[in-house]
Amino acid sequence: MTQDEQANEPLEFENRHPGKKQMRDEVIAGLMLSQKMIPAKYLYDEKGSILFDQICEVEEYYPTQTEMGILRDNIEEIAELAGPNCLLVEYGSGSGDKTRILLEHLVSPAGYVPIEISKEALLASAKRLTAAYPHICVLPVCADFSQPIKIPSSVNPAGKRLVFFPGSTIGNMLPEEATSFLKRCAKVCGPGGGMLIGVDLKKDTQLLEAAYNDSKGVSAAFALNVLDRFNRELDANFDPQKFGYHSAYNNLEGRIEMGIRSFADQIVKFGHDEIGFAKDEVMFTEFSHKFSLDQWREKANFAGFDITHVWTDAQQLFSVQYMTVQS
Ligand code: TRP
Repeated sequence: MTQDEQANEPLEFENRHPGKKQMRDEVIAGLMLSQKMIPAKYLYDEKGSILFDQICEVEEYYPTQTEMGILRDNIEEIAELAGPNCLLVEYGSGSGDKTRILLEHLVSPAGYVPIEISKEALLASAKRLTAAYPHICVLPVCADFSQPIKIPSSVNPAGKRLVFFPGSTIGNMLPEEATSFLKRCAKVCGPGGGMLIGVDLKKDTQLLEAAYNDSKGVSAAFALNVLDRFNRELDANFDPQKFGYHSAYNNLEGRIEMGIRSFADQIVKFGHDEIGFAKDEVMFTEFSHKFSLDQWREKANFAGFDITHVWTDAQQLFSVQYMTVQS
């Protein structure tokens, strides 16, 4: 670490970022499956996080703006549910824009624990939030939240724990992964604690498909950026000309499927390993499950939560839900 980087490191920064070896093992394992799959978390390197922020700004990508609107419209009620001195824990905090809405309204929060896989995005947003809210104790954790994570404790006396999981990132997990994640969240919330979660809703296929394949090509650039990352960090030799972006709604599974399509029969090197691609073969990068309100309630109940509040926009595109741990 250079001195400059050290100066940027907040005091309490906890680093559980996966190393190169782990990334290589996970990527190769995914590419050896008969249906190739890349763990989506590797899309979020520094450039990937910037491109994802740009997706959130494109016209067609409704989730971000809709969710922000729902949060803003109902923030008083949300702050009341959280109560004074809550410890705010956020998974996949990204740029931190949604968090600001909460931090501005929560009553003397005990602390804010952002958990994020992209070290660069985590540190940059922790720095911005510390500058904007100097009275709030920020305790960043760089980690992959598909694994259990120890939550650092605040020096301040804490009220209830509020787990914040916006962006419908829950939809990016496979159903079983989502269930075990929710169960872990219920433990983190503890008795009396709550979870505020963004859940994207089922809707017209055309609207959905446009959101994941915008006309400016930002979605495509975001997905394809992972090939550059593999070339750079895993000594791979993907030819970006020979791959393109793929996305489509799978009605049966109720999800948008994003991936990268091979334009030709080809072999790609990963250091000493070689992976073959058939013409038109798709390696999936991410799924984005969409839920009906009933489907979601069933899922939440099964994982140990009661849903006490559901807020949506006028068009019912997206929902924000407050859930408490079943006693
Ligand atoms: N979490 C985002 C979502 O499911 C991920 C995402 C949005 C994405 N647009 C994309 C992933 C385009 C790959 C390509 O909404």
